[in-house]
Amino acid sequence: MDIEKYIRERAAAVNKALPAFVLGLKGAQPRLAEAMVYSLAAGGKRLRPVLMGAAYEMFGGRARDILPAACALELVHTYSLVHDDLPAMDDDDLRRGRPTSHKVYGEALAILAGDALLTDAFTVLLSSKYPARVKPAHVLRAAAVLSARAGARGMVSGQAADLQAEGFLRGRLTPSRRAAGRKLLAYIHLHKTADLITAAVEMGAALAGAPEKDFRAVSAFGRELGLCFQVADDVLDVAGDKKKLGKSGSDARNNKLTYASLLGVEQARLEGEALLRRSLARLRGVRGAAAPKAALAGIADFVYRREN
Ligand code: IPE
Ligand code: IPE
Ligand code: MG
Ligand code: MG
Ligand code: MG
Repeated sequence: MDIEKYIRERAAAVNKALPAFVLGLKGAQPRLAEAMVYSLAAGGKRLRPVLMGAAYEMFGGRARDILPAACALELVHTYSLVHDDLPAMDDDDLRRGRPTSHKVYGEALAILAGDALLTDAFTVLLSSKYPARVKPAHVLRAAAVLSARAGARGMVSGQAADLQAEGFLRGRLTPSRRAAGRKLLAYIHLHKTADLITAAVEMGAALAGAPEKDFRAVSAFGRELGLCFQVADDVLDVAGDKKKLGKSGSDARNNKLTYASLLGVEQARLEGEALLRRSLARLRGVRGAAAPKAALAGIADFVYRREN
């Protein structure tokens, strides 16, 4: 399977649908809506919606049936990026190859665009029309997954811990502080990144009405994949080609605690590879249709090897 082609084709459907969901929010203040669309339309790999579609298909559906839910997750992810780049957070000027939202619209409107992307993700998820085979109870379950994984028990706590851990590596790194750093880092990665990746496959399973056992199995895959995803992100921040990356790399400047800063790039790469293998082992344990399962394995491999 040509996985890059698969991702490109699946992402194209998301790219096409995304701006329409924002423009469909009749009554939105025009400049606010413009700022929302600006960040959404800037591109991005769309890996979370693609993962959701593949997980849904693994349990018997067709990805296009759940396009609004897939786009809702991308809205939440995009909000997290807009806020992540703010001066009070990572203070980044470049995102998805373009000036960041606050550089174009100012800090206040960037904050508000993030607020609206998050809130209206739930409008898109809950108020869109789905084919009859997507049961309202399944959509509700997906909304519960999304709010829990994005909120104070999930992504936002990861971001809070990430900020609090800035400067952790200053001073002498004794073995016990290194061990404490690893523990802290595991928490940060689990929440700031793995939670939304896990949400992607969990929402796919929920929307398909997958039995509890299968939901938990796919969730375990998402978690390992999400951890692998962030190790790769940490490595790219210091060792990646900034042009391909579309962001400038700010971890060193911000004294971030990352796999690369704690262990060095080489060791971080090895840890990423181990996480990739773990995620693939988890995936093998999921009962589901073979073709989408193979696609998920391909996406996992791509997550580790990607250059952006
Ligand atoms: C970047 O996510 C933020 C992290 C969680 C590391 P992506 O690498 O998926 O960013 P886009 O959506 O492709 O721009
Ligand atoms: C951000 O992690 C994770 C979220 C936005 C939730 P990073 O700060 O490492 O992401 P990038 O590198 O700016 O994309
Ligand atoms: Mg950050
Ligand atoms: Mg950042
Ligand atoms: Mg990063």
